[in-house]
Amino acid sequence: MRIDWKHYAVLLLTCVASVSQGAEALLYRELEPMEQYVPRVDGDTKFSNTYRYWKDRAKLDPTLAGNPEEFWRLNWKFMDPPFNQAVHGGHFALDHGEERYQSLNQSGAFAKCLGARKGNLKGLRASYPRYLANLGHVAGLEEVIERCAAKEGVVMQNGSYENSAISLYIASKSNGMPLRIDVSKGPMKQAYERGRTLYHTKSGRLNFACASCHIHNIGKHLRGNTVTSPFSDASHFPVYRTRYVLQSLQLRMIECQLDTGAQPLMPGSSASTDLEVFLTALSNGYPIAVPSERD
Ligand code: HEC
Repeated sequence: MRIDWKHYAVLLLTCVASVSQGAEALLYRELEPMEQYVPRVDGDTKFSNTYRYWKDRAKLDPTLAGNPEEFWRLNWKFMDPPFNQAVHGGHFALDHGEERYQSLNQSGAFAKCLGARKGNLKGLRASYPRYLANLGHVAGLEEVIERCAAKEGVVMQNGSYENSAISLYIASKSNGMPLRIDVSKGPMKQAYERGRTLYHTKSGRLNFACASCHIHNIGKHLRGNTVTSPFSDASHFPVYRTRYVLQSLQLRMIECQLDTGAQPLMPGSSASTDLEVFLTALSNGYPIAVPSERD
């Protein structure tokens, strides 16, 4: 068959049409059904339904879970100290973090830059992520550690062991204090809403959203793990993983993203921070508990 210019034109148009269809297909996003979370600054009791189990720690009774298989129901994530008193890598990381923190904070400028009042770290972790006017965006603690260390002339990359160790040390100064971020207005509310949507957006090779597992398949077994609810996820990070080393919350999320064949989000990127804001809001009211350990 002879191909004249008319055929070329038709071919060209077909190509353009299929490419633009492809572009549309790329934009297509499927969402998991979204619950109407109403996070409260003083604790998200309504949706977690686990608060009742642990609000009085003195009376905490693991048998409330029914049977050992159902232990995840207690949202034991906050319970490492004093329940897990064994020395693990998290304790060494904590000591290292303290050392690094002290050396960075010799002039007191590092603590000030992090937002510590009069150099006091108590409660600082409980109010991160937060909106920082000087940056013009919402930032997690690890991002701020990187920025403040840079001001001291030290590279402390978000996601690195050193960065997470300092974050762990800072978090330890708020042990027992409830997470408390306010997502009711302004940039924090916007970050929360974006994080909530992202948490429910399917992506990756397996086309899973975080919510596909952590909201709609809670309690199911996956490769030897029981999928837990997202409530209290944020309160025990950075966590020491016996398989790897120390993980900040944003680093931990990457592991789930890789598991489902999704493109991992860079720690400190706005999308990753939005997810952290969402998860932290759902953990409002849960006490900070570090150093924790997970297999
Ligand atoms: C295929 C199912 C699946 C998907 C999808 C998934 N996760 Fe996970 N996730 C797990 C399992 C299993 C664990 C380990 C057990 C647990 O704590 O739930 C886990 C653990 C976690 C933890 C640590 C909890 C802890 O107590 O240490 C966080 C945080 C987390 N996931 C966040 C996310 C985020 C954010 C997404 C979406 C980007 C996501 N996950 C997507 C299955 C999944």
